[in-house]
Amino acid sequence: MKRVFSGVQPTGNIHLGNYLGALKQFVELQDDHECIYCIVDEHAITVPQDPKELREHILDVAALYLAVGVDPKKSIVFVQSDVSGHAELGWVLCCNSSTGELSRMTQFKDKSKNKESAPTGLFTYPVLMAADILLYDTDVVPVGNDQKQHIELCRDLAIRINNKYKKTFVVPEGRFMKAGARVMALDDPTKKMSKSAENIHSRISLLDEPSKIKKSIMKATTDSEGIVKFDIENKPGISNLLSIYSALSGISIEDLEAKYEGKGYGDFKKDLVEVTVEALAPIKARYEEIRHSEELIEILKDGAAKADAIAQKTMARVKENFGLGLGR
Ligand code: AMP
Ligand code: TRP
Repeated sequence: MKRVFSGVQPTGNIHLGNYLGALKQFVELQDDHECIYCIVDEHAITVPQDPKELREHILDVAALYLAVGVDPKKSIVFVQSDVSGHAELGWVLCCNSSTGELSRMTQFKDKSKNKESAPTGLFTYPVLMAADILLYDTDVVPVGNDQKQHIELCRDLAIRINNKYKKTFVVPEGRFMKAGARVMALDDPTKKMSKSAENIHSRISLLDEPSKIKKSIMKATTDSEGIVKFDIENKPGISNLLSIYSALSGISIEDLEAKYEGKGYGDFKKDLVEVTVEALAPIKARYEEIRHSEELIEILKDGAAKADAIAQKTMARVKENFGLGLGR
């Protein structure tokens, strides 16, 4: 069975982009893959975090994993900082990556833009992400499109080290959704939907109330043409809404275009509100059930023990191949 690894940062406001780009794939892959899903709290601290809030957000994301359908009987679910191998391998990989290649990472450029100085951890973020992946001999990494460059770096590092030392790592591949790989902000379809945007109507969070969902969708930016047609270049707003509708309902974009031929954006948006509310209701219900349960903590502890057992084997191999320590 092929192994899958992915992670989400515990930074609040998990939104439709996270769901359609990443979480939906997590669930799809469970039946015929060995899946490991992580809450990457060490990535979260690359930007300032309030300690109390961070801990709450870790449990929020864990509960959302389960609420969208990740099944702890099939998949390992755990918190990154509970397994020390991530930081340990991160260091080894740092020593094999260059400041030049990390300077080219667009996420770093975006996040450090207009700042006088940025934390070193923000700069080496993609290296820690590579460590997450390589630590588990991962074959497949389900993520949104925005992570493509980071996956490429991870592959480069694995290949580089395999060539320089004994073959140490499995070279992983990214897995991206056709619809949903890049969900755009509702108020500005030229930007990706993000957890941190100031305008709450730019995103739909998985736990939003129906009234908030309605407001955000009805306000969403479209164009003045009034024709429901997919055309990313000229009609990015309605195209984004069509992608969301299609990904949530399973109806193809062509069929949706046909369905709304001759109708305006109002009708389309009203139906999209209904589809979205219906898709998110069971997620919210399951979330409420487990978020404050002891079961959730047990699942994470059990997941960390299982992940750690795999991680320790990889670290032993890494140390052996690099000549670190005294040997076994
Ligand atoms: P993050 O919130 O940055 O931890 O992202 C968690 C996962 O959601 C990653 O796989 C991202 O690629 C994915 N993701 C984040 N934002 C979007 C978006 N707007 N559209 C599609 N996928 C996204
Ligand atoms: N960088 C990813 C994001 O922001 C989160 C992440 C960290 C991740 N480590 C990972 C995703 C390993 C996949 C695999 O979305």
